Amino acid sequence: MKKLKLKELESCLQQVDVFENPKLLLEQYPTQPHIAACMLYTIHNTFDDIENKIVADLGCGCGILSIGSAMLGAGLCIGFDIDANALEVFNRNAEEFDLTNVDMVQCNVCSLPDKMSKTFDTVIMNPPFGTKHNKGMDMAFLKTAVQMARIAVYSLHKTSTRQHIQKKADEWNIGMEVVAELRYDLPASYKFHKKKSVSIRPLLIKSKPIIFLLNNRVVR
Ligand SMILES: C[S@@+](CC[C@H](N)C(=O)[O-])C[C@H]1O[C@@H](n2cnc3c(N)ncnc32)[C@H](O)[C@@H]1O
Repeated sequence: MKKLKLKELESCLQQVDVFENPKLLLEQYPTQPHIAACMLYTIHNTFDDIENKIVADLGCGCGILSIGSAMLGAGLCIGFDIDANALEVFNRNAEEFDLTNVDMVQCNVCSLPDKMSKTFDTVIMNPPFGTKHNKGMDMAFLKTAVQMARIAVYSLHKTSTRQHIQKKADEWNIGMEVVAELRYDLPASYKFHKKKSVSIRPLLIKSKPIIFLLNNRVVR
């Protein structure tokens, strides 16, 4: 497989279609192509946790993280999302890119059966942050991810939840460390967003199983 450069990956991910009518209560904020490319490129190049690996993408939405993983040579990447409309867009995206190493499942990530435990090498995700009458959703996703992954979990979270996640990681007996801090502008995606875009500082954290914490969107 041809080795993709970071810029090439980002430019491919710019072609991925996003939510047509995003559902606020499901926190349907797509990961920006630049952030998705940086995250996946690091997981692939620094930690070697994508190529030939079985990858799960929890709350996959329209599939940008799954599609990027597939492009970087995942053995198989399976996306999980509760929303059929998002998965329709994901399916179209996968067809457009002619990818055969992605698949998707419609389900509630919080009620995945125990038999999924340790069935994936790597779990990647940009979970709901639990800010829309769904308090604790970020941690429910994280707990499921840690149960499903044999090697590592890479997840995006609000920087402000870092201490809470550290506490939970200690409770679950897993380590965690900050890997990088990024900056980018988040465009307004819902009608109630007053400003066109907001500048934010994402935070990258590593743990074993590895967890990346990235404050990749502002909760308004
Ligand atoms: C922040 S979006 C991320 C979408 C996509 N992964 C991306 O990076 O662009 C969160 C996703 O989680 C999904 N979601 C929310 N609650 C869920 C649940 N209980 N089970 C499965 N998916 C859920 C939403 O439909 C949405 O697609």
